[in-house]
Amino acid sequence: MTLEALQSETLAAIAAADSLDALEAVRISALGKQGSISALLKTLGQMSPEERQVQGPIINGLREAVTADLAARKAEMESAALDAKLATERLDMTLPAPERPMGSIHPVSQVMDELAEIFADLGFAVAEGPEIEDDWHNFTALNIPETHPARAMHDTFYFPNQMAVDGKAMLLRTHTSPVQIRTMMNQKPPIRIIAPGRVYRSDSDATHTPMFHQIEGLVIDKGIHLGHLKWTLETFLKAFFERNDVVLRLRPSYFPFTEPSVEVDVGYSLVNGKRVIGGNEGWMEVLGSGMVHPRVIANCGLDPQEYQGFAFGTGVDRLAMLKYGMDDLRAFFDGDLRWLKHYGFSALDVPTLSAGVGA
Ligand code: DAH
Repeated sequence: MTLEALQSETLAAIAAADSLDALEAVRISALGKQGSISALLKTLGQMSPEERQVQGPIINGLREAVTADLAARKAEMESAALDAKLATERLDMTLPAPERPMGSIHPVSQVMDELAEIFADLGFAVAEGPEIEDDWHNFTALNIPETHPARAMHDTFYFPNQMAVDGKAMLLRTHTSPVQIRTMMNQKPPIRIIAPGRVYRSDSDATHTPMFHQIEGLVIDKGIHLGHLKWTLETFLKAFFERNDVVLRLRPSYFPFTEPSVEVDVGYSLVNGKRVIGGNEGWMEVLGSGMVHPRVIANCGLDPQEYQGFAFGTGVDRLAMLKYGMDDLRAFFDGDLRWLKHYGFSALDVPTLSAGVGA
């Protein structure tokens, strides 16, 4: 067979191949170990140098032409196969959703909504602040100067120095307390806010995750005292746990941004060996709080002689665990649909005080 005939026959076979398998068979019969073109290439070895100089480029040209044609035909087939696949997998986004709603509300979202509802009823607005904070708002303004041992209590995620903004070191906020500072600097008293949000600490075990949720409360006005704080927390915790027999215990404590500082315990009873909020058989710590330190008020440009206030802060995830009986915090962030099916809330159950908050 002449080289021209071999070339046109092979190219015709490539064009006629109607599947990737058929194409592969053509490739093997031409370029495989026993292939027709491979056999021709082998003859080059036995030729005289003069003959090889003539035949070499012709045979190699044939091999290149066939190789290129095979590749082109293969790409064409693959693209046709993809088109066919895309056509059968087309999804009509305008079709109605399945009858049963598939998603559910995460307990953290549910509890944040419950808290917003309860505090809105007490005249509190919701305030927000950035999760990427500067050192001043997160620590210094809250009366935690650079050398203060309380800084070491927060396992802070700092950004590298080269990411400083206006010369200020940046970090992931370790608590929602910097929202107190931002609110006092942007708003005139009287102030009544809560600030729910994400916070970050380099810590991880069954009760700690590197990201978790806190809620902060702040009241600033004239003549505010510890009695206001106690009444507010009691009213809030009774509404949140949906029980009238919630008993609080205030313990003296220390936070740099409050003076005096109190830790708040809530009483529980044992029912069939399980802790249930209410009564006073035992105590569980639920909140940190206190009267806002005069220095913090002054740091925000207000006169502490004129204005006083109270603040509190607690973990939203922890509140959710206590109210809804989960025992491993890590499950909150695993994204396991089975967990969410069990603990999640219907999107239609919006918390309201009149319905009994978590209903
Ligand atoms: N920021 C504190 C923490 O993360 C919690 C806290 C304690 C907030 C006392 C407050 C407070 O507003 O008054 O550990």
